[in-house]
Amino acid sequence: MNKSIGIFDSGLGGLTVLKVLSQKFPHESFCYLGDIARLPYGNKSPETIRRYGLQILAFLKEQNVKAIIIACNSASTVFLEDSDYESIPLLNVIGPGSAAAIATSKDDKIAVLGTSATIRSHAYRDTLKRLNPRVEVTEQACPLFVPLVEEGMVNDPITEMVAKKYLADIQKRHISTVILGCTHYPVIRSDLKRVLGEDVSLVESGDVLANELEGLFKDHIIPRSSGSRTIRVCITDLTDHFEKLAHQLMAPEKISDLERVVL
Ligand code: DGL
Repeated sequence: MNKSIGIFDSGLGGLTVLKVLSQKFPHESFCYLGDIARLPYGNKSPETIRRYGLQILAFLKEQNVKAIIIACNSASTVFLEDSDYESIPLLNVIGPGSAAAIATSKDDKIAVLGTSATIRSHAYRDTLKRLNPRVEVTEQACPLFVPLVEEGMVNDPITEMVAKKYLADIQKRHISTVILGCTHYPVIRSDLKRVLGEDVSLVESGDVLANELEGLFKDHIIPRSSGSRTIRVCITDLTDHFEKLAHQLMAPEKISDLERVVL
């Protein structure tokens, strides 16, 4: 039987990653876990985020997945050294996102947007500097973006106002490569582009993770699946609002099964 690919996030934002992957790999099945009951991770300590993350990895292992993708940036910062979980290959967003930003930037100036936990960890800054010591990194925590996205406030004047406040320094420094270091930020990419200008290059987790996953297939680390597939979305809390938002974020892709699970 074809095994699925596990993806985890603290909430629904990781569906931005699942959507990209499900479109790029139309024969692969996915099992997504969104820990909505404990969202946000972005204001929690590394110890707590790692404890939650390990519970989710154990859950996904039980679902018999062939690889696990940590789509959540805040969680990725506490699993930087882990390349597998009990022999299941584990991917996180920090390394690939940093490499993609370095390849994109023409002037060695890169900005990183993320939750407080991601920015406080300096995981992106340190990885970027390791890849290219000349790079100038500007880090900006944007804690209000996550609740704005979870409330569906896209193309909204309030989101734009908040973006103007957070992005002022990046604008002043004329930085044209910006890592969206949080699962939720691609949802408001048009609000961000209105503030930063259409020419800004936004590095998004979905694209970089698709390349990483392709690497696992090409290197024969995991087998490709064939035939029909399922997209299973498990969340630790389920309300009408979350259900509607989940379908909206995945559209036009269809979720085969949306269920509430207890970890
Ligand atoms: N998924 C988180 C991240 O990418 C954002 C939401 C949260 O703070 O839990 O960092």
